[in-house]
Amino acid sequence: MWCLGIESSCDDTSIALVKDGALVAHESASQASLHALFGGVVPELASREHARFIGPLCDNVLRGAGLTPSEIDVVSVARGPGLLGSLLVGIAFAKSFALGTGARLIGVNHLHAHLFAAGLEQPVELPALGLLVSGGHTQLCRIDGPGSVRVLGKTLDDAAGEAFDKAGKMLGLPYPAGKVIDELAAGGRADKRLFPRPYLDNDTLDFSFSGLKTAMNGYVAAHPSIRGRWDADSGAVILPEGDAADRLADVCASYRFAVVETLAVKTERALSRPDMRDTASLVLAGGVAANAFLRERLAGLAEKYGRKFIVPSPALCADNGAMIGYLGWMLSSRGFFHPLDLEAVPRGKPVPDDMCVATAPAEKTLWRFKS
Ligand code: KG4
Ligand code: ZN
Repeated sequence: MWCLGIESSCDDTSIALVKDGALVAHESASQASLHALFGGVVPELASREHARFIGPLCDNVLRGAGLTPSEIDVVSVARGPGLLGSLLVGIAFAKSFALGTGARLIGVNHLHAHLFAAGLEQPVELPALGLLVSGGHTQLCRIDGPGSVRVLGKTLDDAAGEAFDKAGKMLGLPYPAGKVIDELAAGGRADKRLFPRPYLDNDTLDFSFSGLKTAMNGYVAAHPSIRGRWDADSGAVILPEGDAADRLADVCASYRFAVVETLAVKTERALSRPDMRDTASLVLAGGVAANAFLRERLAGLAEKYGRKFIVPSPALCADNGAMIGYLGWMLSSRGFFHPLDLEAVPRGKPVPDDMCVATAPAEKTLWRFKS
């Protein structure tokens, strides 16, 4: 079964081809340098860029694989949560593709796609505990199957990626700042008491990162010389002079420590819950899963609790069409599909469980008009 995966939920346009669960081709266009000029994603610009890139990317992927559109069996699209205008570009494209070729349509939950992405690279034994950390979401989930993911706890305010991005803005670093902070932190020494590890003194699996951002704001206001600068023309990060550069690295290491430790403490509490004892794996997913210290810390937790540690390679942590194609393939091979009135789900709204179940194996005539 050939499945075309389409991702356009935020600022990455990405198209992939998945054949029977294996990644065959994958092309993305990042808008990061455009949005960096504004210090964050500008939704209207993001939608326009998706509309500009989506057709050529799809064409490249199909041509590269030597396929024609009519050979695609399933078209899988991220249907939310995300930026509404951005999602609508991908969904309109997917519906047109399905209508024009007769391929089946499936709209997938972008967050679930992150959680299953590692399956493209290695077998993932279920049930699993999942920690999903991205620019817009931070959740601990129990994963029983592709249609069965239960949220155990989530952020009450900012996401972990947002905590990195907003701290980066205060430090004069380019958007999205998570990777830059991670790299600077590698050369610094963490002061474990410089930043609080927020919202741990409770018995929920929820998170709260907004206080951490306030702490960074206070620190930068008191030590403005540690701020870096981003040169938009060259794309280079300009570090401060002398000791201030070392201090910046130490502050990045301290901040990374606070975010990662907070995530690790709640993950450990989830692993020790009686209803999680049957989990075989600990899955780390989402853009922040590329963080070197978080990967190391969670690998240690998995070992301590006797779970297999599953994390995608860094390229599959960020938003990508491959994970959308993969989850779409998993769902459609179990008979699920969506009709052409599939709706986009903006951030903050729950993604409905509104898939239909086909009674016959995937047929390519589903959308044909009656003659
Ligand atoms: O999953 P993703 O690509 O997009 C969303 O669905 O949000 O995640 C993007 C987030 C950004 O906040 C970015 O700063 C963060 O992932 N990120 C990192 C790292 N690489 C990307 N955060 C910490 N360390 C990294 N190495
Ligand atoms: Zn994402």
